[in-house]
Amino acid sequence: MKTKILIGVIVLAITLVTIDIYFTNHIFSSKDKAKNIEYTLAIVKPDAVQSKKTGKIIDRIENENFEIIKIKKLRLTPKQAESFYSVHKNKPFFKNLVNYMTSGSIVVMVLQKENAIEEWRKLMGSTNPEEAEENSLRNLFGTDIEKNAVHGSDSPQTSKKEIYFFFPSFIK
Ligand code: CMP
Repeated sequence: MKTKILIGVIVLAITLVTIDIYFTNHIFSSKDKAKNIEYTLAIVKPDAVQSKKTGKIIDRIENENFEIIKIKKLRLTPKQAESFYSVHKNKPFFKNLVNYMTSGSIVVMVLQKENAIEEWRKLMGSTNPEEAEENSLRNLFGTDIEKNAVHGSDSPQTSKKEIYFFFPSFIK
């Protein structure tokens, strides 16, 4: 019985590593790797969509030379929001975050650029709009630490997972 469980765990671990290598090789071609071309998930959050800031945000994205590879508008269900933000499930703000992210439509994008992850985080500014750098998107369009207008992936690993969440066919 114990041997069977052990074999099961080993098979699962090998499968997960294989999937990870497959995803990495699929997203990043060798040319992209040489230039460190990256992809990041970007979200225009419900507050910014509702106050009609999507166009202004997309304008900044294009002016800063990101390429919009994928884009769609949708409304998250509570289950989807809980799953997307599962990393925060033990935080005191988790319930409010899920309520907020399901309160209206969002616009999700895959952005491409050299060092896209860091560049998009720079353009967004700090999480709290009050501390966000002047002229950053959160400084311009955010209301408070929760209603902070935009989201971005925080690492290559997260970016793969987040892109897969909304655009599975882009990763396959
Ligand atoms: P983001 O970094 O895009 O994803 C996690 C979100 O949780 C974050 O944006 C904020 O919207 C929210 N968040 C982070 N910290 C707090 C906090 N202290 N209080 C309320 N919301 C928060």
